[in-house]
Amino acid sequence: MIIAIDGPAASGKGTLAKRIAAHFGYQCLDTGLLYRAVARDLLATGQSLEDDKAAAWTARSLDPKTLDDPGLRLPGVGEAASVVARIPAVRAALLAFQRDFAAQEPGAVLDGRDIGTVVCPDADVKLFINANVDVRARRRYVELKKRGEPVTYDGILETIKARDARDAGRADAPMAIAHDALLLDTTDLDIEAAFDAAVGLIKRKIGQQG
Ligand code: DC
Repeated sequence: MIIAIDGPAASGKGTLAKRIAAHFGYQCLDTGLLYRAVARDLLATGQSLEDDKAAAWTARSLDPKTLDDPGLRLPGVGEAASVVARIPAVRAALLAFQRDFAAQEPGAVLDGRDIGTVVCPDADVKLFINANVDVRARRRYVELKKRGEPVTYDGILETIKARDARDAGRADAPMAIAHDALLLDTTDLDIEAAFDAAVGLIKRKIGQQG
């Protein structure tokens, strides 16, 4: 069983993916961490995020054991990840790891931008999670303020808009809604309501498959 969850930054897809995986007893992979780790490793060795060759080499050398590094959650790393994610050789280097992860029994939940379209086009269930950009910026602002980060609402709004445009506008595997994805808009939903709605959609879809 493969559940693919895509959506823009701060849509709530990461939290939903973890809760859905726990609910069904599946493993969960936040694929954004792979791109964040490539950006982290590139910057740590003083290389440019725009250096295709260095980025591809770094992606091929990535140690998945380092994905639990809390530093990967820093806002600047998300930005940097979006930049390296434009490089086709980086995406290609990360594909096999994601597909192997998806193949495990009894099931896996993967969240990202291109899971339903490129990584797992045959996923059993595809969800695309979205929310109004102001609501997403507000949620991210509250989360980062709580963590003591020196952020402003306007700064976060601009950053999220720029990241959406970069992730949706790149040539290779852009963020996109798969033709067979189920849409869930969390603008007016808290996490509990969003979780209930997502589980309802998944059960209906699995039920349809018999
Ligand atoms: O989901 P996130 O914010 O951790 O992702 C960070 C960046 O990584 C995102 O802006 C674009 C890139 N990414 C991607 O290109 N494809 C994915 N499947 C997941 C993330």
